[in-house]
Amino acid sequence: MDRIGNGLVVGDMKVFTGTLVHSTEEQPMAILENMAIGVCNGKIEFVASATDLEALKCERGISDDSIIALTSSQFLMPGLVDAHLHAPQFPNNGIHLDLPLLEWLQNFTFPTEAKFADVKFARAVYAKAVDRVLRCGTTTASYFASMHLEATKILSDIILERGQRALVGKVNMMVNCPDYYRELSVEDSLKKTEEFILYVRSLKSPLVQPIVTPRFAPTCPRDQLERLGQLAAKHQCHIQSHLCESRAEKAWVKDLFPGTKNYAEVYDSTGLLTEKTVMAHCVYLDDDEVALVRRGGTGVAHCPNSNLSLRSGICNVKRLLKEGLKVGLGTDCSGGFSASILDSLRQAVLVSKALSSMSDSTHLTLEESFRLATLGGAKVLHMSDRIGNFEPGKEFDALLVDVEAKGTPLDIFPEDTTEEKIQKFLYNGDDRNILQVFVAGRKVVDQMM
Ligand code: GUN
Ligand code: FE
Repeated sequence: MDRIGNGLVVGDMKVFTGTLVHSTEEQPMAILENMAIGVCNGKIEFVASATDLEALKCERGISDDSIIALTSSQFLMPGLVDAHLHAPQFPNNGIHLDLPLLEWLQNFTFPTEAKFADVKFARAVYAKAVDRVLRCGTTTASYFASMHLEATKILSDIILERGQRALVGKVNMMVNCPDYYRELSVEDSLKKTEEFILYVRSLKSPLVQPIVTPRFAPTCPRDQLERLGQLAAKHQCHIQSHLCESRAEKAWVKDLFPGTKNYAEVYDSTGLLTEKTVMAHCVYLDDDEVALVRRGGTGVAHCPNSNLSLRSGICNVKRLLKEGLKVGLGTDCSGGFSASILDSLRQAVLVSKALSSMSDSTHLTLEESFRLATLGGAKVLHMSDRIGNFEPGKEFDALLVDVEAKGTPLDIFPEDTTEEKIQKFLYNGDDRNILQVFVAGRKVVDQMM
């Protein structure tokens, strides 16, 4: 690291010049052409017009070899945020999607997750899963692991080593699950969850953090939920679970918690609806539940692929947004068959268009869905002070996209505008177009090598 005359720390300053696209409070998708973005020590130092580059170079002592000029087929966008996915379910991605949620869990999901008692198996699967997710451009993910402590530590180690930003949760579950895959007592579940929290914190990573993870209300008795809520408060942890995913699940919760007004109140009354909580799905929230989720400052991970694949239902995201809830996107692998948030982004648009065509209401636009996939996810995970867009001071989590990359699945024509190229990527692009992935300024995927 060097210091220059005026005291500015330049460190590993890199400057990208070209097109940037990101979301702000005002604009779901702002396209900024002919820009210069300066990155130093993992953070965004400045965003300026490239016409000011010469002045910036002098002022900040930037050398020519630290400037990376994007081509006209390239742009930078913020890294994608997957607010909900299940790492141990990756062997099941793209298979067994013909049963509804509760039967699917018993028949396919629990047997697969039970295999993570074997740490060798866990290491092999988790390495593939994290590599896949990063390659899809997901710079931040909120992972459910399995109920196993050792395997979940391994998942954290792999994420740390690969350089992804993540929340990682050891799953807690002890009732209404098979004998071969359940925790034997609340004490055991709490002890292991606390050990996991302390383990992750001992890694001293600014990127990987623990998240308290009751699987969902049907698998956790009230005292387990309460104590997990207390544990999260004690360690100031994030919390994640599932809420109002399917009609059958919601009816089941009503039976299992007879004194409680609704599903959301089960979590609210056990201290689990906080501003650091993310609840997956929320397809069947009634108005009272929307009010509880909003009061808690809790975020929603909308998982359209999963909701369609398991025939759980159609989430009215426009309603949740209008009601002032924080909403991000999740792949929910393997309930959803794709590990790519680009897929969730598209499916969120299509689900919303299907709803609007039936009710004559407005739909979620591509641009709004892009915001959910980036800034929205950052808010849901309580990280928007650090990530989500290209505001100076935030960390540089970014994708270098090339619409004409080798093997590109989309066609570009000379008359295409920058905006049209970006739309084509969002609708038809894939990991072949994502040449480089950066997390906190570190290049964690590089297809240009
Ligand atoms: N509800 C409880 N567990 C799960 C799970 O693994 N996947 C989904 N989609 N819903 C759940
Ligand atoms: Fe899920």
